[in-house]
Amino acid sequence: MKPKRNQIRGLAITPSVLADIKIILGSPPFRRDLLIEYLHLIQDNYNHISKAHLVALADCLKISLAEVHEVASFYHHFNLIQDSKQTTPNLTIRVCESMTCKMFGSEELSMNLKTNISNNIKLETVPCVGQCSNAPIAVVGQRVIEEATVENVLGCKSYTPQIPSYEKLAPYIASGGYGALKKCTDGILTRSAAVKLLSDSGLRGLGGAGFPAGKKWEIVRQQPSPRYLAVNIDEGEPGTFKDRTYLESKPHQFLEGMLIAAWAVEAHKCIIYLRDEYAACRQILIQEIKAISVAFPNGLPSIELRRGAGSYVCGEESAMIESIEGKRGIPRLRPPYIAANGIFGKPTLEHNLETLYRVTDVINHGSNFHASHGRHGRTGLISFSVSGRIMTPGMYLAPAGITLRELIDEYCNGMSPGHELKAYFPGGASGGILPASLADVPLDFDTLQEHDCFIGSAAIIVLSDHDNVASYAKNAMNFFAKESCGKCTPCRVGTKQASALMSARSWDINKLKNLATVMTDASICGLGQAAPNPMKSVIEYFKEEIS
Ligand SMILES: Cc1cc2nc3c(=O)[nH]c(=O)nc-3n(C[C@H](O)[C@H](O)[C@H](O)COP(=O)(O)O)c2cc1C
Ligand code: SF4
Ligand code: FES
Repeated sequence: MKPKRNQIRGLAITPSVLADIKIILGSPPFRRDLLIEYLHLIQDNYNHISKAHLVALADCLKISLAEVHEVASFYHHFNLIQDSKQTTPNLTIRVCESMTCKMFGSEELSMNLKTNISNNIKLETVPCVGQCSNAPIAVVGQRVIEEATVENVLGCKSYTPQIPSYEKLAPYIASGGYGALKKCTDGILTRSAAVKLLSDSGLRGLGGAGFPAGKKWEIVRQQPSPRYLAVNIDEGEPGTFKDRTYLESKPHQFLEGMLIAAWAVEAHKCIIYLRDEYAACRQILIQEIKAISVAFPNGLPSIELRRGAGSYVCGEESAMIESIEGKRGIPRLRPPYIAANGIFGKPTLEHNLETLYRVTDVINHGSNFHASHGRHGRTGLISFSVSGRIMTPGMYLAPAGITLRELIDEYCNGMSPGHELKAYFPGGASGGILPASLADVPLDFDTLQEHDCFIGSAAIIVLSDHDNVASYAKNAMNFFAKESCGKCTPCRVGTKQASALMSARSWDINKLKNLATVMTDASICGLGQAAPNPMKSVIEYFKEEIS
């Protein structure tokens, strides 16, 4: 039976809610792919999304309530409520519970906040918000509180993001910025020459997988048009904050690289997917995209900025594309690959922010720019996000192949006083854990496999003799269990089972090893495949802590 007018499958549309929603969403036509953007608009306005809002939104988009609900409930940042009359807190305080923040007391902070906050404040524990060098971190509304304490969190009176000082368009252009793009668009460099330059530079994707960038461009260029460029600024890997650091200091170097890549593969549209946690970056991007569209009124591809909604798996490239299309961020089965079948089924070049940032360097300085750096037989540069038990945590651009010991001594001013190196995560929560005895291994793509680890996004978390390594591996597994999208059983069930087994004082090593094998072999995306890595490292290197 067809639903009656003013009803969506038996649920009445509230005319006043529908009218309000239409004001919030702006003028029609409403786009199905903007569903997540619309949910953000509603939530920003009311601090929650009620059932009546979902019904009205479904009506605006002419889709079923079930479709709207399944998307809204997938993302952690949407606060869904049944009844719009229900009172909801008007402020949310989020406390990061990931590894580095745990190291600096986030559990105690959460407990103490819980006993001190009033009813109109919602307290949530959340995974890494990409600010690890100033742990522990709390976020009050959208205001990041570094080295958070009960006093500075409750004393915070401004809930909007603090915008750091960064290089704006005029000084960027004054120092030669957008010269590399001009070289391309003026025909000084042909598209094939640009692709060759990139291939010769050896630049590899810096989102974690390390796929050669030039090769990716070549593959996408061979696909029929129209083509898209998608930019991945989801930066959800716990411990990683390099993309934010670049965006908050030199946004135009990234934007220039993005425009060069779009030119090279003749993409008509660039879609930038930014994690919701980076509210300051969002304002910077809105402002600077506007600035370039005024400065270069002709010939720019269209640029759209999208807002993630608190889902780590959306950093996986095909999940990100699903999310861009306004769906749940569930990774696709491959083939087909996104280079041939990406956004709306069209060929898509997807890159991490830093990869595009480096493209500008390569076009400006030539293919040797990367190859001339490196150490211990490795070539290139790596942006390490370093946090934990060191004197000066931060993001450091260092030669590929540098060892952890060198990184700590030369860039981080040594270990924190009274701390002796015990272990380190070389690649965030996914990359496994290495013991101090392997602090002299060159850090790069392909150098850590023999130790069952990988460098990924180069998020280094340093642990000392004050730390129990197994408890950090468990923290990582809990994170994967919460973030698993649930599509495949080995990941959905495996992460939860492993998490439970890792809570025991003595681990059931055989069971955990079997679980690890099934998860690695049978999960369809990198989340489930990599989730067992920290646990396997503890079994290999820190048995005394778990038996
Ligand atoms: C679970 C998961 C999360 C990921 N998160 C990110 C991310 O936050 N940012 C990113 O650039 N790549 C992330 N990736 C890697 C992307 O799938 C993809 O390889 C990358 O965006 C390609 O860009 P690149 O070639 O410039 O590295 C993730 C992969 C997986 C499996
Ligand atoms: S491995 Fe996990 S996160 Fe990836 S698709 Fe399967 S269930 Fe989803
Ligand atoms: S901000 Fe807390 S671990 Fe990254």
